[in-house]
Amino acid sequence: MATFYVTTPIYYVNDEPHIGHAYTTLLADVLARYHRSLGDEVHFLTGTDEHGQKVQESAIKRNVQPQQHVDEYVVRFQELWKKLHIQNDDFIRTTEKRHTDRVVDLLNILWEKGEIYAAEYEGYYSVSEERFITEKEVEDGNFREIKKLKEKNYFFRMSNYQETLIEHIKTHPEFILPKTRRNEILGFLEKPLTDLCISRPKTRLSWGIELPFDKDYVTYVWLDALTNYISAIGWNTDNKRFQKWWPANYHLMGKDILTTHSVYWPTLLMAAGIQLPKTILAHGFWLSGDTKMSKSLGNVVNPLDLVDSYGVDPVRYYLMRDMVLGHDASFSLDGFVRRYNSDLANDFGNLVNRVTILIKKHFSGILPETGTFDKTDLELIAIAKSAPQKVRSLISNLKINEAIEITVGLFRELNRYLEKREPWKTVKLDKAHKISAGTTLSLAADILRIGAQLLHPVMPNRIDLILQILGAQNLDLVNFSVGLLKPGTVLGEGKSPFPRIEIPK
Ligand code: MSP
Repeated sequence: MATFYVTTPIYYVNDEPHIGHAYTTLLADVLARYHRSLGDEVHFLTGTDEHGQKVQESAIKRNVQPQQHVDEYVVRFQELWKKLHIQNDDFIRTTEKRHTDRVVDLLNILWEKGEIYAAEYEGYYSVSEERFITEKEVEDGNFREIKKLKEKNYFFRMSNYQETLIEHIKTHPEFILPKTRRNEILGFLEKPLTDLCISRPKTRLSWGIELPFDKDYVTYVWLDALTNYISAIGWNTDNKRFQKWWPANYHLMGKDILTTHSVYWPTLLMAAGIQLPKTILAHGFWLSGDTKMSKSLGNVVNPLDLVDSYGVDPVRYYLMRDMVLGHDASFSLDGFVRRYNSDLANDFGNLVNRVTILIKKHFSGILPETGTFDKTDLELIAIAKSAPQKVRSLISNLKINEAIEITVGLFRELNRYLEKREPWKTVKLDKAHKISAGTTLSLAADILRIGAQLLHPVMPNRIDLILQILGAQNLDLVNFSVGLLKPGTVLGEGKSPFPRIEIPK
């Protein structure tokens, strides 16, 4: 059985979870569910980044100990994931011993190998970014809270790995996706890479993992955080488990944290003699109109508000359907409602109602026998047979929005088929016509079931409901063959869980 290991960034625990966090986690969840449905053994990891200056400052502001602060705040993320029906296999917190011990191991390995050295460094430091920045970056003016600092610190010999990293990126086209981001990183690597400052003096920051070779320092928060991807799966403790999952199939993230993942992380791994992840995937931002959603701009859409008004699954659907991976996407309530009404209420929901109501009315709610299929039926069957394979290949190529389109396309095809057949008219004619209307409706219900199954990873709960309405609740969710919903099946109660949304003008 193939294994599939997918990760999200671990989120800063002092932030209010917003659409950016929700999107990356949902994306991982949908990919994980699709891969489970393809028969892969899946490990899906998410978690929280709990050390560093921002957390320390928030704790001081609230007048509590940092540990108490993170313990209270982590719950917001855990609750949101529950609410969004995220099926993660593990949740790692960087304050857990299973993680901090591994960070210490990694530091020891690098120290013993001579990959880390101490040096006096004078430079500009951005407090908000928690890192030293170059003079050029100071001039660019994108950083806030800049101080000039002179202090002893520890540095990782990142510059030694520049050539090997470039070579790896060039020979592994799938290492950084999408291609535009890969080119950006290759462009960034044209300039000489500096060594990476991996420590912070405790006099400035005490909330972190102490360096094993100097108790006056804590570990730079990014080295600490990145290590979660291996600490969580047993690196350096449970080798069998680690070998099973590593290297990760996908590290998912927003484009703003691509450099740390595609430069710092692989060079650290190379230095420690650990294999590199297979793919680092950066998605775009959700914009509000044309502007990035950010807390400081105050235009953040809280996914919880939408979920409270319209339910989890429609929100999952919208976020997956309307972002082309790698590009930015514009979020609006209007866009959400339009997408919902056209795909879910009209194309999908009406179809469910139409087919089930006719079967209930004319066949006592029992799927009628099918007669012989004619050319029109066989054409529809051919489309339904090809859909799962197309969806599979699109998912493997991370084209989730296109995979969804294929499924909605199948519903549209089914609607056209019914318009052509008009079973609502023919069922009332003679006996022969009733038999042919029965064939049409049984086939329609079966193909509707296939389409529903294909959308299950995106909308698990409402699809379960639809499968139950179709009498398909006991069928194998991942068997997409035509003909599994047999004549004689008794339909369930209820109607489509996608009623039209009317927004008052
Ligand atoms: N703690 C680090 C990650 C460490 S991983 C080893 C971090 N945390 S974060 O909480 O700031 O992460 C936020 C995630 O949400 C990032 O992937 C970021 O790109 C993403 N987004 C933040 N705003 C976003 C949008 N408006 N739209 C989509 N995603 C965006 O960075």
